[in-house]
Amino acid sequence: MTQDELKQAVARAALDEIRPLLNRDTIIGVGTGSTANLFIDALAEVKHDFAGAVASSEATAQRLKGHGIDVFELNHVGTVPVYVDGADEIDPRLAMIKGGGAALTREKIVAACAERFVCIADGSKQVDILGGFPLPVEVIPMARSYVARELVKLGADPVYRDGVLTDNGNRILDCYNFLIEDPITMEARINAIVGVVTNGLFAARGADVLLIGRENGVERITA
Ligand code: A5P
Repeated sequence: MTQDELKQAVARAALDEIRPLLNRDTIIGVGTGSTANLFIDALAEVKHDFAGAVASSEATAQRLKGHGIDVFELNHVGTVPVYVDGADEIDPRLAMIKGGGAALTREKIVAACAERFVCIADGSKQVDILGGFPLPVEVIPMARSYVARELVKLGADPVYRDGVLTDNGNRILDCYNFLIEDPITMEARINAIVGVVTNGLFAARGADVLLIGRENGVERITA
C-alpha cells in the first residue's frame, strides 16, 4: 500500500468512528493537512446527516465549503463532540507533534474545545520519542529572533520557515535536533517564552483515539 492509500484507509475509518455521533445538530471539529483532507472528502458523503464543522485553518474551511459543508465560528459553537486531525508524529502515549502545515495554533484551539480527539495517521508517523520531525513554534513576528535564542537555550536548533505566514499573521520556527523526552513539560516551557503563540506539541491534551494505517489494516489505539 502507498502512503496515500494508508491515509485514505484511516480517513474512512475516522468516518466510521464518528458516525454514531452524527445527527442534524452535530458540529464536528476538522483538522488540517493531507490526511484531514481525505477525511473531509469522506465526510462529504454524509453531509446531510450533520449540521456542519468548525475548521482549524482557512484551507480546511475552503475544502469543507467546496463540498457544501457548512462552516461555523468556534465562538458561536462552544464545544464540539469530536475533533479529527492528522499528526506529524505520535508517541505511545498519544502525544503528538503537529504543525507541519503551519496550522498548529488553530488546531490546538479546536482540539481544546473537543470532547474527543481522533488522530488519523499512516504508520510512518508512529515514534517512540517525539522530535525526529522538527517541532514547529508559532511566534509573533517581532519576537522571532528573541524566541529563537531562547529555543537554543532549551537545546533546539531553530530554523525560520522562510516565506510562511500563518492564518493568524505570525511566523514559524522549526526546532531541529530536538528529541523530546518529556513532552508535557516541554510544551509548557516553550509556551512560557514571551512571543510564542503556541508550539506544535500536543501533549497536555493529546489524542484520545489513534487510527493508524498499516499494511494489514487500520489499528485503533486508545489513550
Ligand atoms: C497541520 O498544521 C498539521 O498539524 C497536520 O495535521 C500534520 O502536518 C499532518 O499532515 P499530513 O496529514 O499532511 O501528514
